[in-house]
Amino acid sequence: MAEKKKIRKAVFPVAGLGTRFLPATKAVPKEMLTVVDKPVIQYVVDEAVEAGIEHFVFITGRGKAVIEDYFDIQFELEQTLKSRNKNAELTLLNDLLPKAGTASFTRQQEPLGLGHAVWCARDIVGHEPFALLLPDMIMYSEKGCLRGMVELYEKAGGNVIAVEECAPELAHKYGIVGVGEELEGGFRITEMVEKPAKGTAPSNYFINGRYILQPEIFSILETQERGAGNEIQLTDGMLKLAKQQAFAGYRFEGRTFDCGAKDGFILANAFFAVQRDDIRPLVVDPLKELLSALR
Ligand code: G1P
Repeated sequence: MAEKKKIRKAVFPVAGLGTRFLPATKAVPKEMLTVVDKPVIQYVVDEAVEAGIEHFVFITGRGKAVIEDYFDIQFELEQTLKSRNKNAELTLLNDLLPKAGTASFTRQQEPLGLGHAVWCARDIVGHEPFALLLPDMIMYSEKGCLRGMVELYEKAGGNVIAVEECAPELAHKYGIVGVGEELEGGFRITEMVEKPAKGTAPSNYFINGRYILQPEIFSILETQERGAGNEIQLTDGMLKLAKQQAFAGYRFEGRTFDCGAKDGFILANAFFAVQRDDIRPLVVDPLKELLSALR
């Protein structure tokens, strides 16, 4: 059993091209598309902050520089807000700013797959366990998904993957895990398959895009061959690591929105809008009216 070092760093792979969202993503990274009034990436970073993460590692690529700007001070804007006494807006920006030196950016130069993107973080993460959050997925629950995973990790150690149940006909779109003995707050993972062919999935528990991984994953990914979709797959690397180390599944109970897909993104906007006290009264009745007009 690997040592239970604190999870201090989180990796966010944000190099993806966003082809499912063209033309919007021709000039704007998909992670910067807004759900209500915050970019998608902010929701995911907020989840990491809630889980106690102290250092944020972004794996970017060409055309993604605006993500780096977003996590920096916008000097002219802030001067203008100050001169206009827009204090609430200034506080908001200030609260969201990572502390100096706690955000790191490195580029994945070629889109070789998620496993390769994660490997690009090896020098910044170093030899300690880390969280990995796929920013397409934004989640809503009382206790954040990553926080629940950190709690499971504190008991079980090793590696932890968050999973949710999906309809069997959707299993081929995801990584799927096999379910072993129950643990307090989760279960042992017995196997993992990336995008199983229809009818071959070991369960209906899919990997939802949140991971706690031990650093030994990096040396495995270094020599990883291409898998499903001709990409270097993280799931294949994890399967190799599972021969040496324990993997636990954390059953996430909450709502997950795949904001890399149009339906998920639209539903996320509606859902997060009605969660907000300032926006809910403005949109609930018009939304109901829109939906009833469809019938
Ligand atoms: C990736 C992972 C897959 C996981 C999914 C969740 O796939 O490889 O295991 O289930 O994210 O969104 P992708 O969506 O990049 O094809």
